[in-house]
Amino acid sequence: MTTETANTTLKPETMQAITALTKRFPQPDGALLTALRIAEREVGFINPHVCEQVAEAIGMAPAKVWGVVSFYSTFRRDTDGKYIVYVCSTLPCALRGSERVFDHLAGKLGIKNGQTTPDGKFTLRKAECLGSCGTAPCLQVNQDEYYEGLSLQMVDEIIEDLGNDKCPARHHTV
Ligand code: FES
Repeated sequence: MTTETANTTLKPETMQAITALTKRFPQPDGALLTALRIAEREVGFINPHVCEQVAEAIGMAPAKVWGVVSFYSTFRRDTDGKYIVYVCSTLPCALRGSERVFDHLAGKLGIKNGQTTPDGKFTLRKAECLGSCGTAPCLQVNQDEYYEGLSLQMVDEIIEDLGNDKCPARHHTV
């Protein structure tokens, strides 16, 4: 999805919902992450225009909102591919071979950390702990699919299935 094809203007009711949410917090920035998720759900991603509207609804400076979006790698951007593949790079996963998983994926997809394949299908990102340390190494696809105890063969199968828009078999949904 791109800014050229997507309407990035939030609905009036969404703006009102964000403003109402803000009133439930002593400081407006307490509502920011939830407000951004609401906006992301509606538009499909966060870009500067979406940030400006969220900032207006909350009463914060747009630059501050964009700074928060930039800090969190899990907000979808308008330049992201259909499947964002997050590879955990925190120590327990690193000790169990996550670097090898990441390098394998980078080589297979022909992209580096943060990049998107030319066909717009995959974005690859290193991530901090994905909360599944006991089944390291693991990766996450988009917001709700976990793949754990990875081998390189499993990684190949996951990418092949996603490339065909099939839900890969070995996964745990959060
Ligand atoms: S360290 Fe990888 S999931 Fe926690």
